[in-house]
This record gives sequence, C-alpha cells and structure tokens, in this order.
Amino acid sequence: MKCRRCTAKATVQLRSHNAAFCRGCFLFFFQRNVERSIEREHMFTRDERVLVAVSGGKDSLALWDTLIELGYQTEGLYLGLGIGAYSSASQAKTERFATDHGVALHVVPLEDEADGLAIPEVAAATRRQPCAACGTFKRHYFDRAARDGGFDVLATGHNLDDEAARLLGNVLHWQLPYLAKQQPVLLPTHPRFVRKVRPLFRTSEYESATYAFLRGIDYVVEECPNAHGATQLVYKDLLNRLEHTMPGSKLAFVTDFLRRAHPLFNAAPDAGLGECERCGMPSAGELCGYCRLVAEVERRRHATAAHS
Ligand code: AMP
Ligand code: FES
Ligand code: ZN
Repeated sequence: MKCRRCTAKATVQLRSHNAAFCRGCFLFFFQRNVERSIEREHMFTRDERVLVAVSGGKDSLALWDTLIELGYQTEGLYLGLGIGAYSSASQAKTERFATDHGVALHVVPLEDEADGLAIPEVAAATRRQPCAACGTFKRHYFDRAARDGGFDVLATGHNLDDEAARLLGNVLHWQLPYLAKQQPVLLPTHPRFVRKVRPLFRTSEYESATYAFLRGIDYVVEECPNAHGATQLVYKDLLNRLEHTMPGSKLAFVTDFLRRAHPLFNAAPDAGLGECERCGMPSAGELCGYCRLVAEVERRRHATAAHS
C-alpha cells in the first residue's frame, strides 16, 4: 500500500476515506482536516483566544496539539471531577502535556471550588447516574472558566463517533429540540456565554487515536469508570458495525444531516435568558441547572442529617 500523498510506503489505512498515508502525510491530513472544519464552520480565527477543555484523553489532547501546531492562541482547562484514580491519572497526563508544550493550563478541582462538590458525592446524594450530574457540572464550569478568563471561544474534543452516536440517539427518539441544537458551532445565547465549538466533529475516534499515537502524546487510555453513557456505547457499537460493512457511513450520516436535514429543524429561540440568582450565570429560571443540582444535594444532606 502506498501513501496517497507522497507514494512512500503507507502505515495508516483509512477505509472511510478510501485512502492510506505514511506517518508524515497522515499528520498533515489530520491537521488540515481540523483546520478546514474550523475555517468552513467559522469556528474561530488566529486572532481569537481559545479555551480548550482537555480531559487527558486522546481526542482533547490531539485537538490541543493540532491547534498549537496550526498556530492558534490556546490555553487549556482541566476539571478535576474527583473520580478517584481515573481523575488523578488524567490530571497528571494533562499537566505533563502542558509542561512539555509550554502552554498555559487552568486546573479547576471541583473539591476546591466554593460548593466543594465532586461528582461521586453529587451522584450519591441525589441517587442519580454520575454522568447526568457530570454533564451539568462540566457545562457550568466550562462556561464560567471561559467567561472569567475572557476567552472568545470554548473548544471540546467531541469527535465524529460522539457526534454520530448522539445523532442516532436523537433520531431514534425524534428529539426535535436536540436535533435543532446539534451543530459543531453553538453561538452564545447570552452575553455571559462564549461560542462553543467541536473542531473534531468530522474526525473519527480511530483517526484521533492514531494521531495521538504517532505524535507520541501520552494520554489516559481508560474510560471513566462510571461506564459513561452506556447507551452511547450501544449506539457507537452499532455504528461501528455499519462502518465496517459500509466505510464512510458515519461521516456521511453526520455531514449529510448538517447539510441537508439540520436547516429544516428550526431551533426555538431561547426565551430571553436571565441570570441565575445564586451564581449569576445565564439561566431560564431563578436558578440555573447547576445551582438547582447543588441545592438538591444540600436539601438531601440536611434531610439525612435530621434523620440520623
Ligand atoms: P466526554 O463528555 O467525556 O465525552 O468528553 C467530551 C469532551 O469534554 C472532551 O473531549 C473534552 O474536551 C471535554 N472534557 C471531558 N472531561 C473533561 C475534564 N475533566 N476537564 C476538561 N475537559 C473535559
Ligand atoms: Fe463524567 Fe465519567 S466523565 S461521569
Ligand atoms: Zn447558578
């Protein structure tokens, strides 16, 4: 097999693109695809400050590495979720990456924040799935860090596999409001929000893992021990089987949705967001989703203390 770009011996085969590349040309291809997504979707420019949410996994570290290589102005954000050894290992890898690349990293351990609540405590107190609480916490702290740091945009490492699985879930349940909001760029709906972007939305998990490996990026291989989003894993498995038989299906599913179907789903405008009474972040009600969850934890703790 020969490299599609330089005809040297190929080391990476991409069936979805019907192509094979040598190491150097694959890295070029990967970075160029990310740059094209950023430019075509008007995600951000080289004059804007980008906060990259990095979990220590392959996708977000491959994204950060690519943005640095492409000359964008980036800083990293790592949220310490307090999930035992998984969180400490991810933090160590993220810090290592930032030091090696000489880039700024903001580490926000949830235990040290004013509310002092890590994910396992919230899940235990509310008897909810950790992932549900985790999503609400991540959104709140991502938004706050981006606003406090005066960034123009927040980038996450969601990849093509994530987007395809999310799309399948939204289609299976005909979640019209979610379908309307499924886009690689979300414009702010309140002055305290920043633009949110997913530059890897056309890049598969396989491609980002290969990129991270070939660039020698040391990332956390283990998934979150909370078997994060079991349903998502079922959808991913299904899509992988489809991809195996029909290479390119995932990419077509997501990109054709965005091009042909998404314009038909009109997003209902967020009814004039106000500000949360407790934390000041944008909110449709008196309290934002994050503060409602914190209040629920406090209520349940008081109830338990009163009964013991
Ligand atoms: P996940 O929700 O775990 O699939 O992660 C999706 C994206 O959210 C990742 O690619 C990161 O950009 C970001 N992310 C997840 N966990 C963290 C974390 N602990 N700190 C900062 N960013 C994170
Ligand atoms: Fe949030 Fe696992 S990363 S519960
Ligand atoms: Zn709030």
